Amino acid sequence: MDKLVIEGGKSLSGTVRIHGAKNAALPILAASLLADGEVNLTNVPHLLDIEVMLNILSRLGCQTRHEQENVIVDTSSANSFHVPDDLMKQMRSSIFLMGPLLARFGEVNIYQPGGCAIGERKIDLHLQGLKALGAEIQEVDGQIHCKASKLIGADVHMDFPSVGATENIMMAAATAQGTTTITNAAREPEIQDLQNFLNQMGANIIGAGTDTITIQGVTHLFPCSYEVIPDRIVAGTVMIAAAVTRGCVTLTHCNPAHLTSLIHVLKRAGVQIGVCNDIMNISCMSRPKAVERIITSPYPSFPTDLQSQVMVLLSLADGFSVMKETVFEGRFKHVNELAVMGADISIDLNCAFIRGVQRLYGATVEATDLRAGAALVIAGLAAQGKTIVEQVHHIDRGYDHIEKLFQKLGADIQRHTPVLKQLDLAN
Ligand code: UD1
Repeated sequence: MDKLVIEGGKSLSGTVRIHGAKNAALPILAASLLADGEVNLTNVPHLLDIEVMLNILSRLGCQTRHEQENVIVDTSSANSFHVPDDLMKQMRSSIFLMGPLLARFGEVNIYQPGGCAIGERKIDLHLQGLKALGAEIQEVDGQIHCKASKLIGADVHMDFPSVGATENIMMAAATAQGTTTITNAAREPEIQDLQNFLNQMGANIIGAGTDTITIQGVTHLFPCSYEVIPDRIVAGTVMIAAAVTRGCVTLTHCNPAHLTSLIHVLKRAGVQIGVCNDIMNISCMSRPKAVERIITSPYPSFPTDLQSQVMVLLSLADGFSVMKETVFEGRFKHVNELAVMGADISIDLNCAFIRGVQRLYGATVEATDLRAGAALVIAGLAAQGKTIVEQVHHIDRGYDHIEKLFQKLGADIQRHTPVLKQLDLAN
């Protein structure tokens, strides 16, 4: 397994371009299956999760190519609705294949998906939505078989605004007969991006970005070209890293409107933020201030995907902060690792109580999941001395070479790849 070795204590400075959004690109790649022919996507990042999705599409019979930031998916030879168990277990987003495969083949076989260990992560809302559209679903020994000779539009109310379930239902409903209305839908920017992509293919969908999405089914979707939105979580990670290292960083190709809640929190912590179109400048010349209370919840509230990174800032802030996590129940695994680096955090159920310390100290720590791993990298950049972050494959799921991103900003961070793996890659 790769490791990142960080000599901390350097203020970040310089300019970085933010890559395309993983969480937008993954459902869009799955949705390509709804059209017959060559879909051209730009601004698709090089990430482990994207690689897994492209592998799945290949195993389903599609031709795929990923060169620089461009992906071509030719779906004309797609010939299977069985998503392989081994790939299904590699990431939660493999569940996105359900809606499109059901719409294309009238049938789909999948397994319970894998993904970051941050909580129970059920798929009942996905299944309920597809059932409402007419699918028959059977689950035997972890294998889920879903069948519908015809999908028919329906009213679907979500008990919780699940991002993935909203997207799965949108994809299944795009070519269903009649109108589907999703109420209490998730409102994340990635859902708007999926709506724009589906409409570009000829779908008739309105309302993404609000809590009611209306999908008027059409008979056919057609291949198209589309540019994926920037990754708001990568942008947020860099902003927080700039703040904790007391640096001055410019982000380009980002969308500040997607980061309103983080900008608000950082400003309360005393961080200076300048915004001009798709460019943001972040600077922080003094110790950040504590933020009394932050609560994660669905967009546009504070994103759970930035909770662990902001906790690093609060660990170093002047004063006492409280962070409440309401989306995933198992998302405080970074706390033990931050404690090894000198953070003063205690947990009670889904609340973290953080007493800011003057300094974090380098240590050997383990990335337990994607965003927890990013938080440890930020902590290492701010810490005094050497930090080694292990299990970097988690971070590679969502950041395209995180070490290169921070090297551009002057950080002393290196990736160490085991010799055996280097030999493997060379063969
Ligand atoms: C997406 C994001 C992920 C982010 C999360 C919340 C992608 C690829 N991933 O994940 O980065 O952290 O949104 O913003 O877009 N739930 C159920 N039943 C379901 C589905 C979800 O109970 O059928 C629960 C989950 O256990 C969780 C909550 O709903 O507690 C939120 O999950 P959801 O919004 O579905 O997240 P994902 O789509 O998995």
